[in-house]
Amino acid sequence: MKTRICGTGSLLPEQTVTNDDLSKIMDTSDEWIKTRTGIRARHLATKETLTGLAVEASKQAMDEAGILPEQIDMILAATLSADNIFPSLSCELQRELGAVNATAFDINAACSGFLFALHTADAYIKTGRYKTILVVGGEILSKMLDWNDRSTCVLFGDGAGAVIVKADEECGILGISQGSDGALGEALLCENRQINNPFASNPVELSYTKMNGQAVYKFAVRTVPKTIHEALKEAGLTVEDIQLFVLHQANIRIIESVAKRLKVPMDKFPTNLQDCGNISAGSVPILLDEINRKGMLHKGDKIVLAGFGGGLTWGAAVLSW
Ligand code: COA
Repeated sequence: MKTRICGTGSLLPEQTVTNDDLSKIMDTSDEWIKTRTGIRARHLATKETLTGLAVEASKQAMDEAGILPEQIDMILAATLSADNIFPSLSCELQRELGAVNATAFDINAACSGFLFALHTADAYIKTGRYKTILVVGGEILSKMLDWNDRSTCVLFGDGAGAVIVKADEECGILGISQGSDGALGEALLCENRQINNPFASNPVELSYTKMNGQAVYKFAVRTVPKTIHEALKEAGLTVEDIQLFVLHQANIRIIESVAKRLKVPMDKFPTNLQDCGNISAGSVPILLDEINRKGMLHKGDKIVLAGFGGGLTWGAAVLSW
Protein backbone atom coordinates (compact mmCIF):
# COMPACT_ATOMS: atom_id res chain seq x y z
CA MET A 1 0.00 0.00 0.00
CA LYS A 2 1.34 3.46 -0.95
CA THR A 3 0.61 6.98 0.29
CA ARG A 4 -0.47 9.07 -2.66
CA ILE A 5 -0.86 12.85 -2.91
CA CYS A 6 -4.30 13.32 -4.51
CA GLY A 7 -4.79 17.07 -4.15
CA THR A 8 -2.79 20.21 -3.36
CA GLY A 9 -3.60 23.76 -2.30
CA SER A 10 -1.90 26.92 -1.05
CA LEU A 11 -2.48 30.52 -0.05
CA LEU A 12 -0.12 33.44 0.51
CA PRO A 13 -1.02 36.62 2.40
CA GLU A 14 -2.13 39.54 0.24
CA GLN A 15 0.65 41.97 1.11
CA THR A 16 3.82 41.68 -1.01
CA VAL A 17 6.96 43.25 0.43
CA THR A 18 9.85 43.74 -2.01
CA ASN A 19 13.52 44.07 -1.15
CA ASP A 20 13.24 47.75 -2.05
CA ASP A 21 10.38 48.11 0.47
CA LEU A 22 12.69 46.63 3.13
CA SER A 23 15.55 48.92 2.17
CA LYS A 24 13.32 51.88 3.11
CA ILE A 25 13.01 50.67 6.72
CA MET A 26 16.44 49.07 7.35
CA ASP A 27 20.03 49.19 6.19
CA THR A 28 19.82 46.67 3.34
CA SER A 29 19.50 46.63 -0.44
CA ASP A 30 17.81 44.68 -3.21
CA GLU A 31 21.28 43.91 -4.55
CA TRP A 32 22.57 42.39 -1.27
CA ILE A 33 19.49 40.23 -0.71
CA LYS A 34 19.20 39.09 -4.34
CA THR A 35 22.84 38.13 -4.79
CA ARG A 36 23.13 36.35 -1.40
CA THR A 37 19.77 34.52 -1.52
CA GLY A 38 17.88 34.93 -4.83
CA ILE A 39 14.92 36.44 -2.93
CA ARG A 40 13.24 39.50 -4.53
CA ALA A 41 10.04 39.68 -2.48
CA ARG A 42 7.98 37.87 0.16
CA HIS A 43 4.35 37.91 1.32
CA LEU A 44 3.79 39.05 4.90
CA ALA A 45 0.58 38.61 6.90
CA THR A 46 -0.96 41.92 7.90
CA LYS A 47 -4.54 40.83 8.56
CA GLU A 48 -4.51 37.07 7.89
CA THR A 49 -4.30 34.29 10.47
CA LEU A 50 -2.37 31.08 9.87
CA THR A 51 -5.59 29.12 10.41
CA GLY A 52 -7.32 31.21 7.73
CA LEU A 53 -4.50 30.64 5.20
CA ALA A 54 -4.38 26.91 6.00
CA VAL A 55 -8.19 26.52 5.73
CA GLU A 56 -8.19 27.93 2.20
CA ALA A 57 -5.16 25.81 1.18
CA SER A 58 -6.87 22.70 2.62
CA LYS A 59 -10.16 23.38 0.80
CA GLN A 60 -8.30 23.59 -2.52
CA ALA A 61 -6.53 20.28 -1.80
CA MET A 62 -9.83 18.64 -0.78
CA ASP A 63 -11.54 19.92 -3.94
CA GLU A 64 -8.88 18.48 -6.20
CA ALA A 65 -8.92 15.16 -4.33
CA GLY A 66 -12.75 15.07 -4.33
CA ILE A 67 -12.83 14.67 -0.54
CA LEU A 68 -15.58 15.78 1.85
CA PRO A 69 -14.58 17.01 5.33
CA GLU A 70 -16.15 13.97 7.04
CA GLN A 71 -13.92 11.64 5.00
CA ILE A 72 -10.71 12.99 6.55
CA ASP A 73 -9.36 10.52 9.15
CA MET A 74 -6.45 12.60 10.34
CA ILE A 75 -5.08 16.15 10.16
CA LEU A 76 -1.34 16.73 10.56
CA ALA A 77 -0.19 20.35 10.53
CA ALA A 78 3.51 21.19 10.43
CA THR A 79 4.22 24.62 11.89
CA LEU A 80 6.24 26.50 14.48
CA SER A 81 4.09 29.62 14.35
CA ALA A 82 0.49 28.49 14.98
CA ASP A 83 -1.99 31.20 15.99
CA ASN A 84 -2.17 29.67 19.49
CA ILE A 85 0.21 27.57 21.58
CA PHE A 86 -2.94 25.48 21.97
CA PRO A 87 -5.37 24.53 20.55
CA SER A 88 -3.10 23.38 17.73
CA LEU A 89 -3.38 24.55 14.13
CA SER A 90 -4.63 21.09 13.16
CA CYS A 91 -7.46 21.24 15.75
CA GLU A 92 -8.36 24.74 14.54
CA LEU A 93 -8.46 23.35 11.00
CA GLN A 94 -10.65 20.45 12.08
CA ARG A 95 -13.19 22.89 13.52
CA GLU A 96 -13.14 25.28 10.55
CA LEU A 97 -13.39 22.49 7.96
CA GLY A 98 -15.96 20.43 9.86
CA ALA A 99 -13.66 17.40 9.66
CA VAL A 100 -15.54 15.79 12.54
CA ASN A 101 -14.04 12.30 12.11
CA ALA A 102 -10.41 13.38 12.13
CA THR A 103 -7.72 13.00 14.79
CA ALA A 104 -5.64 16.17 14.70
CA PHE A 105 -2.23 17.18 15.99
CA ASP A 106 0.69 19.44 15.04
CA ILE A 107 4.28 18.56 14.23
CA ASN A 108 7.20 20.93 14.76
CA ALA A 109 10.29 20.08 12.78
CA ALA A 110 10.85 23.70 11.68
CA CYS A 111 11.56 23.98 7.93
CA SER A 112 11.58 20.17 7.55
CA GLY A 113 8.13 20.05 9.15
CA PHE A 114 6.12 19.27 6.02
CA LEU A 115 8.41 16.33 5.15
CA PHE A 116 8.16 15.00 8.71
CA ALA A 117 4.35 15.33 8.64
CA LEU A 118 4.18 13.60 5.26
CA HIS A 119 6.35 10.76 6.57
CA THR A 120 4.10 10.47 9.64
CA ALA A 121 1.03 10.30 7.37
CA ASP A 122 2.78 7.60 5.33
CA ALA A 123 3.47 5.55 8.47
CA TYR A 124 -0.18 5.80 9.61
CA ILE A 125 -1.47 4.88 6.15
CA LYS A 126 0.85 1.85 6.05
CA THR A 127 -0.62 0.56 9.32
CA GLY A 128 -4.05 0.58 7.65
CA ARG A 129 -5.51 2.60 10.54
CA TYR A 130 -6.13 5.76 8.46
CA LYS A 131 -6.93 6.11 4.77
CA THR A 132 -7.36 9.84 4.08
CA ILE A 133 -5.08 12.38 5.73
CA LEU A 134 -4.84 16.17 5.37
CA VAL A 135 -1.20 17.26 5.66
CA VAL A 136 -0.57 20.99 6.03
CA GLY A 137 2.59 23.08 6.26
CA GLY A 138 2.35 26.76 7.03
CA GLU A 139 3.85 29.67 8.91
CA ILE A 140 3.38 33.25 9.92
CA LEU A 141 7.05 33.51 10.80
CA SER A 142 7.08 37.29 10.41
CA LYS A 143 5.79 37.60 13.98
CA MET A 144 8.83 35.66 15.24
CA LEU A 145 11.48 37.71 13.45
CA ASP A 146 13.60 40.48 14.92
CA TRP A 147 12.92 43.28 12.44
CA ASN A 148 16.10 45.00 13.69
CA ASP A 149 18.21 42.01 12.63
CA ARG A 150 18.69 42.47 8.89
CA SER A 151 20.62 39.20 8.59
CA THR A 152 17.50 37.10 9.35
CA CYS A 153 14.36 39.16 8.78
CA VAL A 154 14.93 39.63 5.04
CA LEU A 155 14.98 35.86 4.44
CA PHE A 156 11.52 34.73 5.49
CA GLY A 157 7.92 34.99 4.29
CA ASP A 158 4.44 33.82 5.34
CA GLY A 159 1.98 31.35 3.76
CA ALA A 160 0.41 27.91 3.92
CA GLY A 161 0.21 24.82 1.71
CA ALA A 162 -1.77 21.59 2.02
CA VAL A 163 -2.08 18.15 0.47
CA ILE A 164 -4.59 15.33 0.77
CA VAL A 165 -2.94 11.91 0.90
CA LYS A 166 -4.78 8.65 0.43
CA ALA A 167 -3.94 4.96 0.47
CA ASP A 168 -3.31 3.82 -3.14
CA GLU A 169 -2.21 0.54 -4.70
CA GLU A 170 -0.32 2.05 -7.62
CA CYS A 171 1.31 5.47 -7.08
CA GLY A 172 2.66 7.33 -4.06
CA ILE A 173 5.64 7.48 -1.73
CA LEU A 174 8.38 5.05 -2.80
CA GLY A 175 11.15 5.98 -0.38
CA ILE A 176 11.84 8.34 2.49
CA SER A 177 14.75 9.54 4.58
CA GLN A 178 14.77 11.81 7.61
CA GLY A 179 17.00 12.74 10.51
CA SER A 180 17.84 15.20 13.27
CA ASP A 181 20.91 16.49 15.05
CA GLY A 182 19.93 18.30 18.24
CA ALA A 183 23.59 18.96 19.02
CA LEU A 184 23.54 21.62 16.28
CA GLY A 185 20.28 23.19 17.47
CA GLU A 186 21.75 26.58 18.40
CA ALA A 187 22.49 27.34 14.74
CA LEU A 188 18.81 28.19 14.26
CA LEU A 189 16.92 29.04 17.41
CA CYS A 190 13.85 30.82 18.79
CA GLU A 191 13.28 30.41 22.54
CA ASN A 192 9.79 30.00 24.04
CA ARG A 193 8.53 31.95 27.04
CA GLN A 194 10.81 32.03 30.08
CA ILE A 195 9.85 30.27 33.32
CA ASN A 196 7.48 32.59 35.14
CA ASN A 197 5.57 31.54 38.25
CA PRO A 198 5.32 32.72 41.87
CA PHE A 199 8.41 30.65 42.78
CA ALA A 200 10.68 31.53 39.87
CA SER A 201 10.29 34.52 37.67
CA ASN A 202 12.31 35.93 34.83
CA PRO A 203 12.04 39.24 33.06
CA VAL A 204 9.35 38.92 30.40
CA GLU A 205 11.42 39.02 27.25
CA LEU A 206 10.18 37.69 23.95
CA SER A 207 12.72 35.78 21.94
CA TYR A 208 13.03 36.09 18.16
CA THR A 209 14.61 33.89 15.50
CA LYS A 210 18.42 33.80 15.70
CA MET A 211 20.55 32.14 13.08
CA ASN A 212 24.16 31.34 12.35
CA GLY A 213 23.70 31.72 8.59
CA GLN A 214 27.01 30.23 7.53
CA ALA A 215 26.64 27.16 9.78
CA VAL A 216 23.13 26.52 8.42
CA TYR A 217 24.36 27.00 4.85
CA LYS A 218 27.17 24.45 5.26
CA PHE A 219 24.82 21.98 6.98
CA ALA A 220 22.25 22.30 4.17
CA VAL A 221 24.59 21.77 1.22
CA ARG A 222 26.17 18.75 2.93
CA THR A 223 22.99 17.11 4.25
CA VAL A 224 20.37 17.62 1.52
CA PRO A 225 22.15 15.62 -1.23
CA LYS A 226 22.83 12.85 1.30
CA THR A 227 19.19 12.57 2.45
CA ILE A 228 17.99 12.62 -1.20
CA HIS A 229 20.39 9.77 -2.07
CA GLU A 230 19.11 7.77 0.93
CA ALA A 231 15.46 8.22 -0.09
CA LEU A 232 16.32 7.31 -3.70
CA LYS A 233 18.10 4.17 -2.51
CA GLU A 234 15.01 3.09 -0.56
CA ALA A 235 12.88 3.73 -3.67
CA GLY A 236 15.28 1.71 -5.85
CA LEU A 237 15.78 4.74 -8.13
CA THR A 238 18.64 7.05 -9.14
CA VAL A 239 18.74 10.82 -9.76
CA GLU A 240 18.37 10.15 -13.51
CA ASP A 241 14.88 8.69 -12.90
CA ILE A 242 13.60 11.92 -11.31
CA GLN A 243 11.61 14.50 -13.30
CA LEU A 244 11.52 17.25 -10.63
CA PHE A 245 13.24 18.06 -7.34
CA VAL A 246 11.01 20.18 -5.07
CA LEU A 247 13.35 21.52 -2.40
CA HIS A 248 12.81 23.71 0.62
CA GLN A 249 13.04 27.28 -0.66
CA ALA A 250 15.63 28.85 1.66
CA ASN A 251 18.26 30.17 -0.70
CA ILE A 252 18.94 29.82 -4.44
CA ARG A 253 22.65 29.25 -3.78
CA ILE A 254 21.83 26.25 -1.57
CA ILE A 255 19.59 24.80 -4.32
CA GLU A 256 22.29 25.40 -6.96
CA SER A 257 24.87 23.72 -4.78
CA VAL A 258 22.59 20.69 -4.18
CA ALA A 259 21.92 20.45 -7.95
CA LYS A 260 25.65 20.52 -8.64
CA ARG A 261 26.42 17.87 -6.02
CA LEU A 262 23.66 15.61 -7.40
CA LYS A 263 24.88 16.34 -10.97
CA VAL A 264 21.35 17.34 -12.02
CA PRO A 265 20.59 20.42 -14.20
CA MET A 266 18.92 23.37 -12.44
CA ASP A 267 15.88 23.18 -14.76
CA LYS A 268 14.76 20.14 -12.75
CA PHE A 269 14.58 22.33 -9.62
CA PRO A 270 11.47 24.55 -9.74
CA THR A 271 11.71 27.57 -7.41
CA ASN A 272 9.43 30.22 -5.97
CA LEU A 273 11.75 31.70 -3.35
CA GLN A 274 12.23 34.72 -5.63
CA ASP A 275 8.69 35.86 -4.82
CA CYS A 276 8.02 34.09 -1.50
CA GLY A 277 11.23 33.95 0.53
CA ASN A 278 11.66 31.08 2.98
CA ILE A 279 8.24 29.98 4.33
CA SER A 280 9.71 27.28 6.58
CA ALA A 281 7.22 24.35 6.83
CA GLY A 282 5.06 26.02 4.16
CA SER A 283 7.63 26.21 1.41
CA VAL A 284 7.53 22.65 -0.01
CA PRO A 285 3.71 22.24 -0.13
CA ILE A 286 3.25 25.76 -1.56
CA LEU A 287 5.77 25.13 -4.35
CA LEU A 288 4.28 21.67 -4.97
CA ASP A 289 0.84 23.25 -5.38
CA GLU A 290 2.21 25.90 -7.76
CA ILE A 291 3.81 23.33 -10.07
CA ASN A 292 0.76 21.08 -9.85
CA ARG A 293 -1.51 23.95 -10.94
CA LYS A 294 0.86 24.85 -13.77
CA GLY A 295 0.40 21.28 -15.10
CA MET A 296 4.05 20.36 -14.52
CA LEU A 297 3.20 17.05 -12.80
CA HIS A 298 1.98 14.05 -14.79
CA LYS A 299 0.68 10.73 -13.55
CA GLY A 300 3.58 8.39 -12.88
CA ASP A 301 6.24 11.14 -12.81
CA LYS A 302 8.91 10.49 -10.20
CA ILE A 303 9.56 13.50 -7.98
CA VAL A 304 11.69 14.26 -4.94
CA LEU A 305 10.61 16.49 -2.06
CA ALA A 306 13.31 17.60 0.40
CA GLY A 307 13.57 19.92 3.38
CA PHE A 308 16.05 21.00 6.06
CA GLY A 309 16.08 23.44 8.94
CA GLY A 310 15.87 24.11 12.67
CA GLY A 311 16.48 21.32 15.11
CA LEU A 312 18.57 20.71 13.11
CA THR A 313 16.37 18.45 10.99
CA TRP A 314 16.25 17.16 7.43
CA GLY A 315 14.14 14.86 5.29
CA ALA A 316 13.37 13.72 1.76
CA ALA A 317 10.65 11.73 0.02
CA VAL A 318 10.64 10.10 -3.42
CA LEU A 319 7.22 9.61 -4.95
CA SER A 320 5.46 8.64 -8.13
CA TRP A 321 2.76 11.20 -8.90
N1 COA B 1 21.64 43.61 4.01
C1 COA B 1 22.86 44.11 3.89
N2 COA B 1 23.95 43.62 4.54
C2 COA B 1 23.73 42.56 5.35
C3 COA B 1 22.45 42.00 5.52
C4 COA B 1 21.39 42.56 4.82
N3 COA B 1 20.12 42.08 4.92
N4 COA B 1 22.56 40.97 6.39
C5 COA B 1 23.86 40.88 6.74
N5 COA B 1 24.55 41.85 6.11
C6 COA B 1 25.99 42.12 6.21
C7 COA B 1 26.61 41.59 7.48
O1 COA B 1 26.44 42.52 8.53
C8 COA B 1 28.05 41.43 7.07
O2 COA B 1 28.67 42.68 7.12
P1 COA B 1 30.20 42.84 7.63
O3 COA B 1 31.01 42.02 6.68
O4 COA B 1 30.42 44.29 7.56
O5 COA B 1 30.20 42.26 9.02
C9 COA B 1 27.98 41.03 5.60
O6 COA B 1 26.67 41.41 5.16
C10 COA B 1 28.20 39.55 5.35
O7 COA B 1 27.38 38.84 6.25
P2 COA B 1 27.42 37.27 6.28
O8 COA B 1 26.50 36.81 7.34
O9 COA B 1 28.84 36.80 6.31
O10 COA B 1 26.82 36.94 4.84
P3 COA B 1 26.73 35.57 4.12
O11 COA B 1 27.45 35.66 2.83
O12 COA B 1 27.01 34.40 5.01
O13 COA B 1 25.16 35.51 3.78
C11 COA B 1 23.12 34.47 4.50
C12 COA B 1 24.23 35.47 4.83
C13 COA B 1 22.15 34.45 5.66
C14 COA B 1 22.41 34.94 3.24
C15 COA B 1 23.75 33.06 4.25
O14 COA B 1 24.64 32.75 5.31
C16 COA B 1 22.72 32.01 4.13
O15 COA B 1 21.95 32.00 3.21
N6 COA B 1 22.71 31.03 5.05
C17 COA B 1 21.69 30.00 5.08
C18 COA B 1 20.50 30.53 5.83
C19 COA B 1 19.27 29.74 5.63
O16 COA B 1 19.01 29.25 4.58
N7 COA B 1 18.50 29.63 6.70
C20 COA B 1 17.25 28.99 6.72
C21 COA B 1 17.42 27.54 6.87
S1 COA B 1 15.88 26.74 6.98
